[in-house]
Amino acid sequence: MLIADIDFCKPEDLEELYAIESACFKDPLNRRVMEHDLANLGQTVYLKAVVDCAIAGYGILARDGADAHVLNIAVMPEYRSNGIGLQLMFSFGEIAAEWGSKNMRLEVRKGNSHARHFYLALGFIYAKSIRNYYADGEDALIMTARLPLAVK
Ligand SMILES: CC(C)(COP(=O)(O)OP(=O)(O)OC[C@H]1O[C@@H](n2cnc3c(N)ncnc32)[C@H](O)[C@@H]1OP(=O)(O)O)[C@@H](O)C(=O)NCCC(=O)NCCS
Repeated sequence: MLIADIDFCKPEDLEELYAIESACFKDPLNRRVMEHDLANLGQTVYLKAVVDCAIAGYGILARDGADAHVLNIAVMPEYRSNGIGLQLMFSFGEIAAEWGSKNMRLEVRKGNSHARHFYLALGFIYAKSIRNYYADGEDALIMTARLPLAVK
């Protein structure tokens, strides 16, 4: 277990965040979209998990009606299985509670069993699947959880 400092991202974090995206996903987010988001806080919330002055992981949360929507979460491979993903998700849960959200939802690749188990451990359940959701044709699973989150 590593205790991370969880904080809001700043525009100057872009390089590190994009490096995490590139290391964690075969289809990283568009860098210019991230730059735009970071410069216009309010539409989405970017949180970072800092360990020893480095950003070990980060996530993106959006408010979507009554739900809080996790748009992304990624932890650098060398920091995984240390509870950093959980710390980011629980911080999202606190922000969602401030919004008054009752549910949290997210999309995950059907083949991403590691992430699916991570979300199941947090009490998420499968709500439905969407065929050909991703650009490469992979299906998405929609997972939802009642707030507050709790490790099962
Ligand atoms: C998914 C991800 C964010 C999890 O981050 P993490 O920091 O490694 O997660 P944690 O250490 O907080 O995991 C906490 C717990 O979740 C559960 N968990 C995580 N992975 C699991 C797995 N493969 N099987 C079963 N349970 C798992 C376990 O209870 C785990 O505790 P443990 O590591 O002590 O067994 C990380 O693996 C990642 O960045 N993956 C690549 C990017 C990605 O797929 N993001 C999700 C997009 S939808």
